[in-house]
Amino acid sequence: MQIRPADADDHAGIDALLKTAFPGPEEARLVVSLRAADQDTLELVAEDHGRTVGTIFFSPVQAVSAAGTEFYGIGLAPMAVTPEHQRRGIGSALIEHGLTFLTSLGVPWCVVLGDPAYYGRSGFQPAGSIGWRWDVDPDGIHADAFMIKALGGHALPEQAAKVSYHPAFDAV
Ligand SMILES: CC(C)(COP(=O)(O)OP(=O)(O)OC[C@H]1O[C@@H](n2cnc3c(N)ncnc32)[C@H](O)[C@@H]1OP(=O)(O)O)[C@@H](O)C(=O)NCCC(=O)NCCS
Repeated sequence: MQIRPADADDHAGIDALLKTAFPGPEEARLVVSLRAADQDTLELVAEDHGRTVGTIFFSPVQAVSAAGTEFYGIGLAPMAVTPEHQRRGIGSALIEHGLTFLTSLGVPWCVVLGDPAYYGRSGFQPAGSIGWRWDVDPDGIHADAFMIKALGGHALPEQAAKVSYHPAFDAV
Protein backbone atom coordinates (compact mmCIF):
# COMPACT_ATOMS: atom_id res chain seq x y z
CA MET A 1 0.00 0.00 0.00
CA GLN A 2 1.29 3.46 -0.85
CA ILE A 3 0.01 6.95 -0.07
CA ARG A 4 0.59 9.59 -2.74
CA PRO A 5 -0.92 12.80 -4.14
CA ALA A 6 -3.98 12.20 -6.29
CA ASP A 7 -3.96 13.12 -9.96
CA ALA A 8 -6.67 13.33 -12.60
CA ASP A 9 -6.39 9.59 -13.32
CA ASP A 10 -7.47 8.91 -9.72
CA HIS A 11 -10.69 10.93 -9.87
CA ALA A 12 -12.95 8.07 -11.00
CA GLY A 13 -11.60 5.76 -8.27
CA ILE A 14 -12.00 8.45 -5.62
CA ASP A 15 -15.55 9.13 -6.77
CA ALA A 16 -16.43 5.44 -6.49
CA LEU A 17 -14.75 5.17 -3.09
CA LEU A 18 -16.57 8.18 -1.64
CA LYS A 19 -19.91 6.90 -2.92
CA THR A 20 -19.20 3.51 -1.31
CA ALA A 21 -17.97 4.79 2.05
CA PHE A 22 -20.62 7.46 2.60
CA PRO A 23 -24.38 6.90 2.57
CA GLY A 24 -25.06 9.58 -0.06
CA PRO A 25 -23.33 11.30 -3.01
CA GLU A 26 -22.71 14.61 -1.16
CA GLU A 27 -19.04 14.02 -0.33
CA ALA A 28 -18.29 12.91 -3.91
CA ARG A 29 -19.98 16.11 -5.17
CA LEU A 30 -18.08 18.20 -2.62
CA VAL A 31 -14.73 16.95 -3.89
CA VAL A 32 -15.69 17.78 -7.49
CA SER A 33 -16.70 21.31 -6.39
CA LEU A 34 -13.49 21.82 -4.43
CA ARG A 35 -11.36 20.73 -7.37
CA ALA A 36 -13.27 23.13 -9.65
CA ALA A 37 -12.80 25.98 -7.16
CA ASP A 38 -9.07 25.94 -7.89
CA GLN A 39 -8.10 26.46 -4.27
CA ASP A 40 -4.80 25.39 -2.70
CA THR A 41 -6.03 21.94 -1.81
CA LEU A 42 -4.29 18.70 -0.98
CA GLU A 43 -5.75 15.40 -2.12
CA LEU A 44 -4.08 12.11 -1.30
CA VAL A 45 -4.92 8.54 -2.17
CA ALA A 46 -3.99 5.26 -0.58
CA GLU A 47 -3.38 2.71 -3.32
CA ASP A 48 -3.22 -1.02 -2.88
CA HIS A 49 -2.21 -3.14 -5.89
CA GLY A 50 -3.43 -0.41 -8.24
CA ARG A 51 -6.75 0.04 -6.48
CA THR A 52 -7.80 3.23 -4.66
CA VAL A 53 -8.60 2.10 -1.11
CA GLY A 54 -8.46 5.42 0.72
CA THR A 55 -8.61 9.12 0.11
CA ILE A 56 -8.28 12.36 2.06
CA PHE A 57 -8.89 15.96 1.09
CA PHE A 58 -7.68 19.18 2.70
CA SER A 59 -8.86 22.68 1.72
CA PRO A 60 -8.21 26.20 3.04
CA VAL A 61 -10.35 27.57 5.86
CA GLN A 62 -10.56 31.01 7.39
CA ALA A 63 -11.16 31.97 11.03
CA VAL A 64 -12.27 35.45 12.04
CA SER A 65 -12.22 36.80 15.59
CA ALA A 66 -14.87 39.15 17.01
CA ALA A 67 -12.36 41.97 16.54
CA GLY A 68 -12.03 41.07 12.85
CA THR A 69 -8.60 39.46 12.99
CA GLU A 70 -8.29 36.81 10.29
CA PHE A 71 -6.45 33.52 10.65
CA TYR A 72 -5.81 31.03 7.87
CA GLY A 73 -5.43 27.30 8.18
CA ILE A 74 -6.61 24.09 6.58
CA GLY A 75 -9.67 21.88 6.92
CA LEU A 76 -9.68 18.09 6.64
CA ALA A 77 -12.70 16.78 4.71
CA PRO A 78 -13.73 14.46 3.40
CA MET A 79 -11.77 11.28 4.05
CA ALA A 80 -12.76 7.68 3.47
CA VAL A 81 -11.41 4.16 3.33
CA THR A 82 -13.19 1.35 1.46
CA PRO A 83 -15.22 -0.70 3.95
CA GLU A 84 -13.16 -3.87 3.38
CA HIS A 85 -9.91 -2.03 4.10
CA GLN A 86 -11.05 -0.17 7.23
CA ARG A 87 -9.47 -0.71 10.67
CA ARG A 88 -6.01 -1.38 9.24
CA GLY A 89 -4.58 2.04 10.00
CA ILE A 90 -5.07 3.43 6.47
CA GLY A 91 -7.21 6.34 7.66
CA SER A 92 -4.70 7.28 10.36
CA ALA A 93 -1.84 7.02 7.84
CA LEU A 94 -3.67 9.33 5.41
CA ILE A 95 -4.14 11.91 8.18
CA GLU A 96 -0.50 11.65 9.21
CA HIS A 97 0.83 11.95 5.64
CA GLY A 98 -1.39 14.93 4.91
CA LEU A 99 -0.56 16.79 8.11
CA THR A 100 3.16 16.12 7.73
CA PHE A 101 3.15 17.63 4.25
CA LEU A 102 1.02 20.61 5.29
CA THR A 103 3.31 21.20 8.28
CA SER A 104 6.28 21.31 5.91
CA LEU A 105 4.49 24.10 4.01
CA GLY A 106 4.10 26.09 7.23
CA VAL A 107 0.34 25.61 7.61
CA PRO A 108 -0.32 26.51 11.27
CA TRP A 109 -3.42 24.48 12.14
CA CYS A 110 -5.98 22.03 10.82
CA VAL A 111 -9.66 21.70 11.71
CA VAL A 112 -11.96 18.74 11.21
CA LEU A 113 -15.60 17.95 11.87
CA GLY A 114 -15.96 14.35 12.92
CA ASP A 115 -15.91 11.79 15.65
CA PRO A 116 -13.87 13.10 18.61
CA ALA A 117 -12.72 9.60 19.54
CA TYR A 118 -11.35 8.95 16.06
CA TYR A 119 -9.66 12.30 15.39
CA GLY A 120 -8.48 12.58 19.00
CA ARG A 121 -6.19 9.64 18.19
CA SER A 122 -4.42 11.87 15.66
CA GLY A 123 -3.95 14.69 18.15
CA PHE A 124 -7.03 16.82 17.44
CA GLN A 125 -8.65 18.61 20.39
CA PRO A 126 -12.09 20.23 20.67
CA ALA A 127 -11.89 23.63 18.95
CA GLY A 128 -14.31 24.96 21.55
CA SER A 129 -11.51 24.66 24.11
CA ILE A 130 -9.85 27.69 22.48
CA GLY A 131 -13.18 29.42 21.80
CA TRP A 132 -13.39 28.47 18.14
CA ARG A 133 -16.74 27.68 16.53
CA TRP A 134 -17.79 26.44 13.12
CA ASP A 135 -19.68 29.37 11.55
CA VAL A 136 -22.70 27.33 10.47
CA ASP A 137 -23.11 26.07 14.04
CA PRO A 138 -23.44 29.28 16.10
CA ASP A 139 -25.32 27.47 18.87
CA GLY A 140 -22.58 24.91 19.29
CA ILE A 141 -24.79 21.89 18.58
CA HIS A 142 -21.83 20.15 16.90
CA ALA A 143 -19.26 21.71 19.21
CA ASP A 144 -17.88 18.37 20.42
CA ALA A 145 -17.30 17.22 16.84
CA PHE A 146 -15.50 20.35 15.68
CA MET A 147 -11.82 19.83 16.39
CA ILE A 148 -8.48 21.50 15.80
CA LYS A 149 -4.82 20.53 15.78
CA ALA A 150 -1.85 22.92 15.88
CA LEU A 151 0.83 21.99 13.34
CA GLY A 152 4.58 22.34 13.45
CA GLY A 153 4.83 23.86 16.90
CA HIS A 154 2.56 26.79 16.01
CA ALA A 155 0.60 28.19 18.94
CA LEU A 156 -3.15 28.27 18.38
CA PRO A 157 -4.54 31.84 18.37
CA GLU A 158 -5.98 32.75 21.77
CA GLN A 159 -8.89 34.81 20.41
CA ALA A 160 -12.33 33.23 20.04
CA ALA A 161 -13.11 32.91 16.35
CA LYS A 162 -15.64 31.65 13.84
CA VAL A 163 -14.30 29.25 11.24
CA SER A 164 -15.57 29.12 7.65
CA TYR A 165 -14.95 26.33 5.19
CA HIS A 166 -14.94 26.96 1.44
CA PRO A 167 -18.45 27.85 0.11
CA ALA A 168 -18.52 24.45 -1.65
CA PHE A 169 -19.25 22.95 1.78
CA ASP A 170 -22.50 24.92 2.07
CA ALA A 171 -24.09 22.61 -0.48
CA VAL A 172 -23.28 19.45 1.51
C1 LIG B 1 -13.39 7.05 9.29
C2 LIG B 1 -12.55 6.14 8.39
C3 LIG B 1 -11.93 6.96 7.28
C4 LIG B 1 -11.46 5.49 9.24
O1 LIG B 1 -10.61 4.75 8.37
P1 LIG B 1 -9.77 3.50 8.91
O2 LIG B 1 -8.74 3.19 7.90
O3 LIG B 1 -10.70 2.41 9.28
O4 LIG B 1 -9.14 4.10 10.21
P2 LIG B 1 -7.93 3.49 11.07
O5 LIG B 1 -7.68 2.08 10.66
O6 LIG B 1 -6.84 4.45 11.05
O7 LIG B 1 -8.55 3.53 12.52
C5 LIG B 1 -9.51 2.57 12.82
C6 LIG B 1 -9.94 2.73 14.24
O8 LIG B 1 -10.72 3.89 14.36
C7 LIG B 1 -12.01 3.53 14.83
N1 LIG B 1 -12.96 4.33 14.11
C8 LIG B 1 -13.18 4.35 12.79
N2 LIG B 1 -14.18 5.23 12.52
C9 LIG B 1 -14.57 5.75 13.70
C10 LIG B 1 -15.54 6.67 14.09
N3 LIG B 1 -16.35 7.28 13.19
N4 LIG B 1 -15.66 6.96 15.39
C11 LIG B 1 -14.84 6.38 16.30
N5 LIG B 1 -13.90 5.48 16.00
C12 LIG B 1 -13.78 5.17 14.71
C13 LIG B 1 -12.19 2.07 14.53
O9 LIG B 1 -13.06 1.48 15.44
C14 LIG B 1 -10.78 1.56 14.70
O10 LIG B 1 -10.49 1.34 16.04
P3 LIG B 1 -9.75 -0.02 16.48
O11 LIG B 1 -8.48 -0.08 15.68
O12 LIG B 1 -9.53 0.16 17.94
O13 LIG B 1 -10.69 -1.09 16.13
C15 LIG B 1 -13.40 5.01 7.78
O14 LIG B 1 -14.05 4.33 8.84
C16 LIG B 1 -14.45 5.50 6.78
O15 LIG B 1 -14.17 5.64 5.60
N6 LIG B 1 -15.69 5.72 7.26
C17 LIG B 1 -16.78 6.15 6.37
C18 LIG B 1 -16.57 7.58 5.90
C19 LIG B 1 -16.40 8.53 7.07
O16 LIG B 1 -17.15 8.51 8.04
N7 LIG B 1 -15.37 9.43 6.95
C20 LIG B 1 -15.03 10.36 8.02
C21 LIG B 1 -15.81 11.59 7.97
S1 LIG B 1 -15.22 12.73 6.74
